[in-house]
Amino acid sequence: MKPSANLEGEQAAVHFDVVSKRFDDVVALNDVTLGIGRSEFVTLLGPSGCGKTTLLKLAAGFLGPDGGSISIEGKRVNDIPTYQRGIGMMFQNYALFPHMSVAENVAYGLKTRRVPRAERDKRVADALALVKLMGMENRKPRQLSGGQQQRVALARALVINPTVLLLDEPFSALDKSLRSSMQVELREIQRKLGLTTIFVTHDQGEALSMSDRMAVMSEGRIRQLGSPVDVYRSPADPFVASFVGDNNRLRGQLVSIQAEQAIVALGDALVQVPGERLSGLEKSAAVDLFVRPEQFRIVAPGEPCVIKGSVVAQIYQGGHVDLQIECSGSVGDRLLVRSPGEQAVLRWPMGAPVGVAIQADRCSVFPAA
Ligand SMILES: Nc1ncnc2c1ncn2[C@@H]1O[C@H](COP(=O)(O)OP(=O)(O)O)[C@@H](O)[C@H]1O
Ligand SMILES: [Mg+2]
Repeated sequence: MKPSANLEGEQAAVHFDVVSKRFDDVVALNDVTLGIGRSEFVTLLGPSGCGKTTLLKLAAGFLGPDGGSISIEGKRVNDIPTYQRGIGMMFQNYALFPHMSVAENVAYGLKTRRVPRAERDKRVADALALVKLMGMENRKPRQLSGGQQQRVALARALVINPTVLLLDEPFSALDKSLRSSMQVELREIQRKLGLTTIFVTHDQGEALSMSDRMAVMSEGRIRQLGSPVDVYRSPADPFVASFVGDNNRLRGQLVSIQAEQAIVALGDALVQVPGERLSGLEKSAAVDLFVRPEQFRIVAPGEPCVIKGSVVAQIYQGGHVDLQIECSGSVGDRLLVRSPGEQAVLRWPMGAPVGVAIQADRCSVFPAA
């Protein structure tokens, strides 16, 4: 399911209701309200220290909130211990038991829950099949690669048939190609099982590619909750605009605003931009335009453009080329411009004077910080 609004307590598989948590004088979570739907995959995204792990630990019951309440499947769990919450967990340091075999590691949670031997064996086999580790039952963790150890940790989390799966930066220690294949596989398993999942990452690319919805956090608060497309296209504030995806910030001046459309002066040029975040702003107030690198287009000198500059760096990326353009004037210093294909390398060489046009209807505009 992909609900667009925050869910009310009864409808949510997991619901945080005005939850706060302090550690001495550090406010780790500041009145967080968040509802996660059944079978939904929600990512908590934010820089280090913003409160992601703390929120996950509160869901798991490793920590108690200072204020607010947490419910799972409609039941308040503030005072329910971890082992009664139906939580499957996987953390960055997967903490397998080194002296136990793969099968014993996976069976551990079933043993502590006193699941009978025959059922235990079947569920361990099913979980190992799900993560594609058949035939590895008798190995010790040290005889496995990092990716395989990660799979054991996932099987161990899944084998108890959790109500909710909690994952804290599970792939951050893996190299890039292994990380992307594990991302795809995790989502396939999660969809197949219809498992409600909260996934923590500080990697915006991972959040954009994996989530049904993502909660962008900073300093203990949720700054925006929405689908990856919503967050990328319509960031709620300058923090989200800068943190999620590449963005250029240009300084402009408000000229006029009418029916959600604003006219903004960028140096000598006028551009028409979305004005929904500018309501109440005085004319000639300073505004910040956030323009994605792919919303720029380089044009030859003399063609109509908004900004003039010259190419100071070419970054060849295979499928596209990133150009850095140094601008003259008050608008901004350096722009990151993305050109599809590879022609840009030859067409706009280092030092070339260029013009930059903007697809202004797609950019995000806020009152200047
Ligand atoms: N056990 C703790 N004792 C003191 N401060 C803590 C503790 N756990 C977390 N914090 C602080 O709370 C804030 C949020 O931490 P955390 O939830 O781990 O952030 P994240 O997972 O987003 O990096 C940070 O400022 C961190 O230093
Ligand atoms: Mg953390």
